[in-house]
Parts: sequence; structure tokens; C-alpha cells
Amino acid sequence: MDVSLLDRLRAWRDAKMASPAFQRWAADFPLTRLVAARRARGLFDITAGFVYSQILFACVELDLFDKLAERPRTAVDLAPEMDMSTAAAERLLRAAVAIDLLERRGTGADGSTRFGLGKLGIAMPGNPGIAAMVRHHRMLYHDLDDPLALFRGGLEETELGRYWSYAGAADPAADGDERIAQYSTLMSASSGLVAEDTLDAYSLRNHRCLMDVGGGEGRFLMQAGARWPHLQLMLFDLPAVVARAEQNFIDAGMAERVRLVGGDIKADGLPTGADVISLVRVILDHNDDGAMAILRAVRQALPLGGTLLVTEPMSETPGAEPVGDAYFGLYLLAMGSGRTRPPREHQALLARAGFGDIRLVRTRRPLQTRVIVAKAA
Ligand SMILES: C[S@@+](CC[C@H](N)C(=O)[O-])C[C@H]1O[C@@H](n2cnc3c(N)ncnc32)[C@H](O)[C@@H]1O
Repeated sequence: MDVSLLDRLRAWRDAKMASPAFQRWAADFPLTRLVAARRARGLFDITAGFVYSQILFACVELDLFDKLAERPRTAVDLAPEMDMSTAAAERLLRAAVAIDLLERRGTGADGSTRFGLGKLGIAMPGNPGIAAMVRHHRMLYHDLDDPLALFRGGLEETELGRYWSYAGAADPAADGDERIAQYSTLMSASSGLVAEDTLDAYSLRNHRCLMDVGGGEGRFLMQAGARWPHLQLMLFDLPAVVARAEQNFIDAGMAERVRLVGGDIKADGLPTGADVISLVRVILDHNDDGAMAILRAVRQALPLGGTLLVTEPMSETPGAEPVGDAYFGLYLLAMGSGRTRPPREHQALLARAGFGDIRLVRTRRPLQTRVIVAKAA
């Protein structure tokens, strides 16, 4: 094997930095001390990350964020509601302070510490979708119990595979309400910010009819319809999911503006009539063959020059690198289908499926929502 000069330099650097003597020196030397401390903390946080997640899980299960949003409380006061001793409540509250979910807020009448929302916990009460995801992670946590078995494909069945019933189904359109209800509700609960950021990133002012494909119970479509009252709406999803959406449109007073179509995108193709189609958190669920089948169906349903929006978290997002390849990489592995892709891979798939003028548009929170716009060519 040809070992380049760069490889040899890197091997020398790696050996140097791996040595305990160098690490001791770097932790003491003023110019390297900060970097050394940051790296040690980074590695510790990865090592302990599963503990932090369980602290968050406990806080969510106990509705602590909502309780503390009302007013700061002490461990003595909270312990009976948490069904644990005061000492255990104090331990949990302190743990949550240490990871910025909560913060100390002076003392109560009895002199004990009062706790309120911390700089990370403050986002929880206004975003029930985050709490729903945290609860949902119980399944992923279970599936990750033996990560090597998961990577080696040695698990007969995973919890997430059962949950996302369409992931491994030969005929997903045959699934009834009992198979889709849970994931459909979770998606609905977590779609608000994704919809808002997508609609802020791309204006639908000059479009006539929007079809949301894999649109779940219609939350994205309803937000788009509320923002753009001239827009005709179409929803396509599995029949059992579409059936759940109907009442939402009636409640929102949008029943007249929407056409609901149930089917299997890959087997049935898509209805025509829309000049813009959105795929919100859909492509990442599918391996390349499935993604290509969906994109080709979308291309066929659009007129020449029609617009496609692909909205989802993507790999290699600057500042959010762990979200794509680490979090979703393992989540989708446990689910049994799909992967996140960097924008350039989306662009290549879109070009192969018959799209041109493909561009990534800026979004407010690229960590969870990136948007690619393409034209049917
Ligand atoms: C991850 S969810 C996203 C839902 C919604 N777009 C959102 O962001 O909340 C994927 C959606 O694709 C739908 N779906 C999956 N496979 C499908 C298929 N073969 N045909 C039609 N819809 C499908 C699911 O029922 C689900 O509603």
C-alpha cells in the first residue's frame, strides 16, 4: 500500500497525541490547556450521553418542565408528586441543573433550593413535539441495547421496525388504523416547526395547487393553506393515514379546498393536478431504490417546469453534523429503512429522476429542516 507523506505525518501526530505523557503536558501548557479541556469534556459527554438522555426522559415523564414553567419549586414540594423521596427528587433536580435543563432559583420559605427552567429546558413547555420525541426514544434506546447486533443485522425484530409499519411492509397501503395511529400522531405533533421553517424558506405565492406527498395528517398542508389562502391543496398518503386527516381539514375550515388521496406512492403513482409537490420528511425513510421510485412518481405527476420541495434533516449540515449521520444514521438503521443524505446526494438523485434547476435554499434551523427546490425538467 502506498503510504503518502500526509498519512505518515498524521500517524506521527496520532501517536504523539495518544500518549499519556503528551496529554498531561497539553493539559498543563497554557496555550493548549483550553483545547485539551474542551476535548476531554467532549469525549466525556459522548461517554455519558445516554445518562443525560435518561435524565431528560425522567423530567419529561414527570412533566417537570410544565410544572416549573408555572413557578419555581423545591424538591420537598415536588417529591410527593414525583412519587419519590425528597433526596431522590433533589438528586434528579440537581442532575437536570448540571446539564442545563433546569437552574437554581434562590431558596424557598423552608430554606431549601428552588428550581426553575434552565437555558435548555426553557424550550420544552412550548414545544410538545420535543417531549413526544423524548418519550418515543424509549424504543430506540431499547433497540440500541446491543449496537453491534443492530449493525450486523442480527436483530430479528426491532421496536422501531414494528412502530414504523410501512418501513418493511410489502403492501403498506393495506395497513389499518391500528398499525399507523401511533407514528401518525407523533409526526403530527412534531411537524409544526418543520412546516414553519419550510414555508418561511420558500414562498408559495406564485403557485396554484400544492400536493403534500407522504403528508401525514395534513399539518404541513394546513399551515401552507393558512398562509396562502389562494392555494388549492392535495394530500397523498397511505389510505389509513389520509382517513385520519379528513377531520383535521374539517376542523380547520379547509375541507372545501383539499383533495385527499390514499394510496401507496411506489405501487400506485400519484394523481396529477398540482404545480408544486412537497416531500416533507419522506425521502430519508427510504433506501435509494425507494427514494428514486418516489421521485420518479413525483416527476410524472408534475407538469414540465413544476416545482418539487424536499424538506428534511440532511447529513453533513454545518454545525449539526451529529444529527444526520449519528442520530438519524442509527435511528433509521433501527427502523430498518432509509438514511439521511447530504445535499449533493439529494441533488444527484433528483437529477436522475428528471429534475433540473436544483438548489438548496437557506432555512432558519438547518439542524432539523433543510430544503431543496427543484424543477421538473
Ligand atoms: C416520516 S412520516 C412524515 C409525515 C409528514 N410529512 C411530516 O413531516 O409530519 C412519512 C410519511 O410517509 C408516509 N408513507 C410512507 N410510505 C408510503 C407509501 N409507500 N405511500 C404513501 N405514503 C407513504 C407515511 O404514512 C408517513 O405519513
